[in-house]
Amino acid sequence: MKNLSIKSIKARQVFDSRGLPTLETDIVLEDGSFGRAMVPSGASTGTHEAVELRDGDKNYFHGKGVNKALHSVNEEIASAIKGKNAGDQKSLDEAMINLDGSANKSKLGANAILSVSLAASRAAAASLKIPLYRYIREAFNLKLNSWILPTPMLNVINGGKHADSGLNIQEFMLVPTGASSFSEALRMASETYQTLKKILASKKLSVGVGDEGGFAPHIKTHEEVLGLLSDAILQSGYEGKIKIALDAAASEFCEDGNYTFESKTLSASEMTARYKGWIEKYGLISLEDPLSEDDWSGWKALTAELGSRCKIIGDDIFVTNPQRLAKGIKENAANSILIKLNQIGTLTETVETVLQAQKAGFSCVISHRSGETEDSYIGDLAVALNAGAIKSGAPCRSERLSKYNQLIRIEEELADQSIYSGLAPFRMKAVA
Ligand code: PGA
Ligand code: ZN
Repeated sequence: MKNLSIKSIKARQVFDSRGLPTLETDIVLEDGSFGRAMVPSGASTGTHEAVELRDGDKNYFHGKGVNKALHSVNEEIASAIKGKNAGDQKSLDEAMINLDGSANKSKLGANAILSVSLAASRAAAASLKIPLYRYIREAFNLKLNSWILPTPMLNVINGGKHADSGLNIQEFMLVPTGASSFSEALRMASETYQTLKKILASKKLSVGVGDEGGFAPHIKTHEEVLGLLSDAILQSGYEGKIKIALDAAASEFCEDGNYTFESKTLSASEMTARYKGWIEKYGLISLEDPLSEDDWSGWKALTAELGSRCKIIGDDIFVTNPQRLAKGIKENAANSILIKLNQIGTLTETVETVLQAQKAGFSCVISHRSGETEDSYIGDLAVALNAGAIKSGAPCRSERLSKYNQLIRIEEELADQSIYSGLAPFRMKAVA
């Protein structure tokens, strides 16, 4: 690849979708090409994630300032990578990992490193005058002979740490597996979301939205929510074409190996029995973080029981980390992985984790964070890697739609060269 020398790097503090500070980094190459990226931020963050560096000064943005991370980019990282080749993503990311020197990017901050990693790839794509999704494929020399538009998983009811709805389960998602294209999938999800809004209003339930654009009604039981979603799908005419998926984010309601669920104390096997009942009654096709992030034996048992008919996605348990994923693969602790760029902190490591998962037969879901920005990077990433699925929240609020809108553009650009992933990533093989 041609040498795309980095001329300047500049980070600034901007705001994310919760109105909290985050980083935006601009990179300019010697040939004038420009790349910009913004980093997202989680709320139900896994304990084992790379470190998001925050200032911690209680008198400044309640401790959430990002001046330290800003400094990392504008001083240490800038001096280390100015003049380097933005087209050599691996070396660039490696240089930042070495400069940080810690095991979890705590010195420079994963937020600082990621903003540079992504901005560099955008600048390189701009210089080569190719779309970002094509550039990522080329930068990692991926020999894929198709372009797959991911199946979106749209979080339409928000609970857990993303809302004050009182629901333990964090995300209730619509998955339009029966669409024939990505844009049709979005149409189906949007219509169903609007139908759901009418159903909630008719029951005098709140239609205000949570962090990911889904509704956040105060509903007593999770089963009731599943019933409302099924009604919305049916009334919209999409029975069988839109499936339901959950992200329990169970670490948030687990203590000492037990789960406080609907005000009862349940064991991992009792939680598993609940999920099993819902798979049977509501046809759930995917369960993310059904158990807590360090409950390996619970995950193994759950995957053995449910993994042949349901996607079992590890988010907080794997944190996009190759070592944790390797353990999950070895122990059959799940059959899928959630991929979040800022859990690991560079584009290179993210791509490597995806490849490791795909090689082992684990499916991948590329994911946003609950604190997002207008940056649509993950839309391109999902197509570049033929990831097969993406979750970016409800079909509501622009920081959620920016990724889906980017995928609509990519689908249009690729025209008949692309295929919509549909049900394919949700067909599970029995666990060995
Ligand atoms: P987070 O939630 O971004 O708040 O961590 C998203 C998820 O758990 O998938
Ligand atoms: Zn999750």
